[in-house]
Formats: sequence, C-alpha cells, structure tokens
Amino acid sequence: MDKDKELSKLKKKILKFNKNFPKKNLVFADGNKNSQVMIIGEAPGKTEDKLKKPFVGRAGKLLDELLNCIHLDRTKVYITNVVNYRPDKNRKPTPEEINEFKKLLFKHIEIISPKCILLLGATAAAAVLNHIGPLSEVRGKWKNIKIINSYFDILTTFHPAFLLRQPARKKSTLEDLHEFKRKLSS
Ligand code: URA
Repeated sequence: MDKDKELSKLKKKILKFNKNFPKKNLVFADGNKNSQVMIIGEAPGKTEDKLKKPFVGRAGKLLDELLNCIHLDRTKVYITNVVNYRPDKNRKPTPEEINEFKKLLFKHIEIISPKCILLLGATAAAAVLNHIGPLSEVRGKWKNIKIINSYFDILTTFHPAFLLRQPARKKSTLEDLHEFKRKLSS
C-alpha cells in the first residue's frame, strides 16, 4: 500500500465532513506515519485549530512529557483524533459526530497499521471500543479488536486534558504507559 497516497485520499474525504464545523481547519495528524504506535485523542482545541496539528496546546505539552517518560516522541509515534475539526466552544463531540468520524478513523488506522494503539480518554474509547460508561472500566486493559480486516492491540488511558485537572491520576497513567511500552517492545 502507498501510505502517502492513501493518507491524501483520506484527507480529501475528511475535508468534506466539515459541515458542523464552519470556519474550522482540518487537523489531520502529526508524527511518523511508519510508526508502530498510533495515539488517538478526542478533537482539536483552539491551538490545534490554529496550528493545524493535534496536541500542540497545554494538553499536548503534557502528552509529550508523558511520552518522554517511556522514551517516545513525535518522531516515533503517529497522533490523530477521533474528530478532525475543533468543536465550537470546546464542546465534546456528539455521539452522532463520533459515529460519523469513526468510519474515517478506522480507515486511518488501517492505513497506518500500527502494532499498538493508545486511546486517550472517553471519546476515543467510545469510537474505537464502542465503550459507553466510566473510563475506569477499560482504562489500563488491553483489548484486541478487529478494525476493518485486521486485529489491533489497544490500550486506553486518561486524556492529558483530564490530567491537567486531576494531576493525581498521572501516576496510573504512567503505569499504563509503561505497560504500553512493554507490549510494544515484546
Ligand atoms: N485534545 C485532544 O483530544 N486532541 C487534541 O489534538 C488536543 C487536545
């Protein structure tokens, strides 16, 4: 598969999904498209919309710090979001939007074809695992899920924006990340 060609086809498709996001920029992805690691967040915020890159605001800085703890950085991971446009007033994406973008996200996962996927927070868990309910039910647990035609190892942890509000949860996030690194290196 020609990843560049597939990614640019996908980008063109996502550009047509902007009707609920007037005047917002497409925030597609960042990092290494050949990485074994794919990280999936919720949706871009104000800074991400401005710079057209995922996780470049405060939550993104924290994500970079956490990744550094397991010796990863943006040259070694691929980062995207469930929804590729900033919802107005930082609202959460609606279940309908999650459902709509999910098909595109699954195609994105198929193209990147990572060894391990890290989901950040409840929106990513809802889209990829179909999990509706407390994050604690899936956090820190490996799932092996079929996406389109292949199975993927997927771990869920807290979203860095949540950790900015609840720093006490950083400890369990780091435990999740070390578990993630263990599987990645196995
Ligand atoms: N939060 C997310 O979920 N994604 C971003 O890109 C930035 C903040």
